[in-house]
Amino acid sequence: MRILVTGGAGFIGSCFVRRTLERRDDQVVVLDALTYAGNLENLDGLAVDEQQRLRFMRGSICDAAAVSRAIENCDAVVNFAAETHVDRSIDDPAVFLATNIEGTRVLLDQAARKGVRYLQVSTDEVYGSLGKGGRFREDSPLRPSSPYAASKAAADLLVGAYAATFGADVVISRCGNNYGPRQFPEKLIPLFLSNAINDEPLPLYGDGENVRDWIHVCDHCDALRLILEEGDAGQVYNVSAGCEMTNRKLVERLLDLVQKPWSLVKFVDDRPGHDRRYALDSSRLREQLGWSPSIGFEDGLAETVAWYRDNREWWKRVKSGEYVTYYRKLYGERLGGVAAPSRNKGRQGG
Ligand code: NAD
Ligand code: TYD
Repeated sequence: MRILVTGGAGFIGSCFVRRTLERRDDQVVVLDALTYAGNLENLDGLAVDEQQRLRFMRGSICDAAAVSRAIENCDAVVNFAAETHVDRSIDDPAVFLATNIEGTRVLLDQAARKGVRYLQVSTDEVYGSLGKGGRFREDSPLRPSSPYAASKAAADLLVGAYAATFGADVVISRCGNNYGPRQFPEKLIPLFLSNAINDEPLPLYGDGENVRDWIHVCDHCDALRLILEEGDAGQVYNVSAGCEMTNRKLVERLLDLVQKPWSLVKFVDDRPGHDRRYALDSSRLREQLGWSPSIGFEDGLAETVAWYRDNREWWKRVKSGEYVTYYRKLYGERLGGVAAPSRNKGRQGG
């Protein structure tokens, strides 16, 4: 199979590319705009293949001509390309609407015209916030809280409309919070790990009791492959490893693993519209497609911590340039004037 993977230089997309290329018969075309979150290093080591099974094209999913070139000869499209960080969407929603909605439309147009299967990689955030009990099912109402979540929900609705109106062969996955190697250090786990390694403050929002439903990125990618190949056309599949945890508990585990003190944690002003709890019922995926996760949270987290310990150069490079401005803007006041994460400290430390 030859798969167009959009956003393949990002965190989850690059994991999907890696796992796809482990299958000798598959080929991948990556279309990625290389925004601040895209990183060609995430694909390092994969292009060294005599059959050139990986092709990288720099371009935006909003650019119909670029999409048209990329989709040529492909049998399927998996759309990871998106603006993905909730805090950034609060600061500047416009680019979220452009990429996540209009970009999805451009991809759908061309996938439908070619008659190839289209998988929209969506998120549990489209359902909004849960109280203490219950889990979201695929037919739960969409009640997004952040501009990011609203843009993903709009994209999901558009995907459904292309199936109903144009007969497009589409499937949608909705997954919880991913963790693993190569996640951009604006998200909770890599931000707190890299700050803790550098003895810098960990800005925990609100009371730290918000709950997220965690899954290792490889388990997510394996579920996506299954949904792509065996999912019913027009269907939505929740993806969850059933691992709910408060942010406070998670941060305690992270600090244990890097052997740093709780005193690094600084409770800061809450994120506006901060969803209290996410939890997904993934019985459709498990019962109909036979999926189950294979990586336990303790093992997966320990492996992730080891990766960030061993790959300081990766995150030191990423935490530079645009990141410094972003960090100052989001956390400067919240952390009482703490400026940017110092890159020098990382260089000195072992
Ligand atoms: P990421 O931010 O790490 O990567 C996004 C990638 O998309 C980057 O490589 C970026 O360069 C690329 N991109 C951005 N705009 C583009 C455009 N206009 N055209 C082409 N490429 C563009 O994101 P991620 O965490 O890997 O998430 C991937 C997908 O999975 C997203 O659609 C996200 O909504 C979804 N998702 C993420 C999570 C999570 O926990 N990270 C959970 C569920 C679903
Ligand atoms: P994040 O990784 O941004 O993912 P999402 O908002 O998509 O769930 O955040 C995970 C949780 O961690 C969320 O409840 C917000 C919280 N959080 C903090 O407490 N401090 C931070 O600096 C960040 C980035 C997140």
